[in-house]
Formats: sequence, structure tokens, C-alpha cells
Amino acid sequence: MIPLMNLKKQYASVAEEADKAVLDVLHSAQYIMGQNVKEFEKEFAKFIDVKEAVSVANGTDALILALKALGIKEGDEVITTSYTFFATAEAIGFVGAKPVFVDVDLATYNMIPEKIEEKINEKTKAIIAVHIFGQPCPMDKVNEIAKKHNVYVVEDAAQAVNASYKGKKIGTLSDIACFSFFPTKNLGCAGDGGMVVTNNEDLAVILRALRVHGSGENGQKAYNLLNDIDEEVQEDAADQTVYNPLKYYNYLIGHNSRLDEIQASILRIKLRKIEDWTNRRIEMAKRYDEAFKDMDLVIPAVQEQGKHVYHLYILQSEKREELTAFLREKGIATGTYYPVPMHLQKVFKDLGYKEGDLPNAEYLSKRTFAIPLFAELTQEEQDEIIAAIKEFK
Ligand SMILES: Cc1ncc(COP(=O)(O)O)c(C=O)c1O
Repeated sequence: MIPLMNLKKQYASVAEEADKAVLDVLHSAQYIMGQNVKEFEKEFAKFIDVKEAVSVANGTDALILALKALGIKEGDEVITTSYTFFATAEAIGFVGAKPVFVDVDLATYNMIPEKIEEKINEKTKAIIAVHIFGQPCPMDKVNEIAKKHNVYVVEDAAQAVNASYKGKKIGTLSDIACFSFFPTKNLGCAGDGGMVVTNNEDLAVILRALRVHGSGENGQKAYNLLNDIDEEVQEDAADQTVYNPLKYYNYLIGHNSRLDEIQASILRIKLRKIEDWTNRRIEMAKRYDEAFKDMDLVIPAVQEQGKHVYHLYILQSEKREELTAFLREKGIATGTYYPVPMHLQKVFKDLGYKEGDLPNAEYLSKRTFAIPLFAELTQEEQDEIIAAIKEFK
């Protein structure tokens, strides 16, 4: 079976370094908020080219903490795409705000900026732009609308590490951007992990407070920032894991949402490979494009101004169910992304959407599917996949 992603092969490619790094962490007995987390945050910030990177427990928490740091709460509305992974919409609901869904472009699968503007009202506080499947959302238009209406922009960059738009890395094109290091992501750890990045130092202080129960030095600084208090704040003890008395002083209702040292140690190694891995994905995507371009399939759109990193290689077919069943018989895995658009999810039924409201998202949900694409996929395997798809009638 050719899997959709082969994490065993990815691990094998870093095993020597990763095993050593993980053992070092185990021997150090410093498992939470240690040197690897500190260094990985610095390295990730440099890689994205942002001032602040705050690691958290997963990409969903990254979104929740980002929205909380922006002060989004009950009574507010947040506009986003209907064609995304549930966590984007879930985070909005989690902070008590109302998700407002817009339709997507049939070629790029990203939000149509003009549709955003139609949904803005006095309750709108933010727009979450998702770079779906690794394809950059047209951020200049999103930012223009946001600026005009004075609302925040959040990037859900969970699927788009190392993507860029007009020469700028995804993650630098908004007030605050969120990444996921779920194992199958382009940069994935050996468990759950996430990151929030921003150029706003005050937001970073609030995020650092929120991820540890609103406590300690950052908790107090965040409290002061949120309440306009000007005072000196005592520094946290250097080693927070042993005994840090400040950690028992709480200033905000926060979360326990930390990336752990083992995950950070692995991510530091993989971050050094991401450029090569991305190039390999792009190269393979081009081979697929070439092979399928004259077939009865829709291949991923290529935008001149955006670097697509192909978190998933998505095809559209009118005969999706038959084609994916045929491929399964041939030992080729596929995945359906996404079978139910957000506006039709049961959990959101009280929002009052009905079928036909966002026709493009609904149309795509019946046609799109992913075929295997990952850095370690061999040319022979790719040829086998291409041949099988060509064989399907
Ligand atoms: C677009 C999108 N947003 C958010 C998330 C949530 O990330 P996590 O699974 O790390 O919580 C994911 C991935 O799962 C995602 O694909």
C-alpha cells in the first residue's frame, strides 16, 4: 500500500539525530519549558522572519490563544472560510464568538476576499485567513479589507509552513499567525505541537501568559497591559521547572498549553530539513500536474504570486468515489478533504446556514481528494500512482 503520508520513512531520515536529541532530553530531566523550547522559538521566529514565536500544545490551541490574545469573546463575530479543517471554526466558537463563513474560490480553494466584505458588520472583530492545503490566501486583499473596516487578521497557517505570498513568508502577513506541528503536517513533531507568531510584542506577552495559567512574570505583564497599569514586574526565576514562586501568582484565566522539550528537540532537527522537503514536494507536485493536466481532473491552481507548499496534493474529479475506490484496490491510499463544509456541520446548525448558501465550498466537498505526496515518496511510487489514475476510466 502506498500511504497518503509515510511517517516511518520521515522518521528514518532523521532517526540518528532525533534519537540522540530525545535521549538528551530524557537524561536532562527538564521536560517542560527548557532550552529546546527556547531555542526552537528563536529558530522558528528567524525562519518565518517575525519578532515573536510562542510555542503551544497544538495548532487548535494556537488559534484559541491567538483569538483570546486579541480580546475576541462572546458577542463578537469572526469571518472565515467554510472550506477548512474544523479547528479553524471551532476556535472561534470556543472563545464564545460567532463564526461567519464565506465561500471559496473554485481554483485555489481559498476564501474569496470580496465575499468577506459583504459579511462585515459592527460585531466583526477579526478575519481568519486559512492557507488551505499549503496554497497561500491572497493576503493583500484580505488585509486591505481588514484595514478599511478596522478588524484584525489572523492567519491559520497550520498547513502552510514555508509557503509565501509575494515574496513574504506565510505567518508574516497578519496580526498573528498560527501553526500546527501535528505529525502529518509539513513540519510535524512526534505528538502534538503548535506555534503562534506575531510582530506585536504585547500580544506575545499575553500569549506567553495564556499558555501557563496566566501566571508569573508574563501573567503580571499581561494583566498590566490589559488594564493599562504602568509598573515594574519582577523577573521570573531562570529555571522554571524546579521551583518558581512566581508561578503561583495568577493574573488571567489561561490554559495549560505548552510545547514540551521532546517535541521541541525533534522540531529543531526537522526545521533544518524543511527547505529541502518543501522543494521535493513542489518538484513532485509539478510531475503530477504534468501527468494529469490533459485529463478529466482538476489539478491544483498555480498562482504566480504565491508559493504553494502542497501540504496536500488535491485533485478534483466528478467520479471521486469511484476513482478513490479504484485506487484503493490498486494499493494506493487517498484522503477526502473536506467532505463537509463548515457551514453545514451539525454543530453549527443554529447559525442557520442551509445547503446552497455557499455553493463553491459545497461543490468542492463532493469532488476533492488527496493523493500521496510527501518528501520520501519515490519516483517509482509516483509513477505507479500516475499510471493507476490514468488507467481509471
Ligand atoms: C487548517 C487547520 N487549522 C488548524 C488545525 C489544528 O491543528 P492541530 O491538529 O495541531 O490542533 C489544523 C490541523 O489539524 C488545520 O489543518
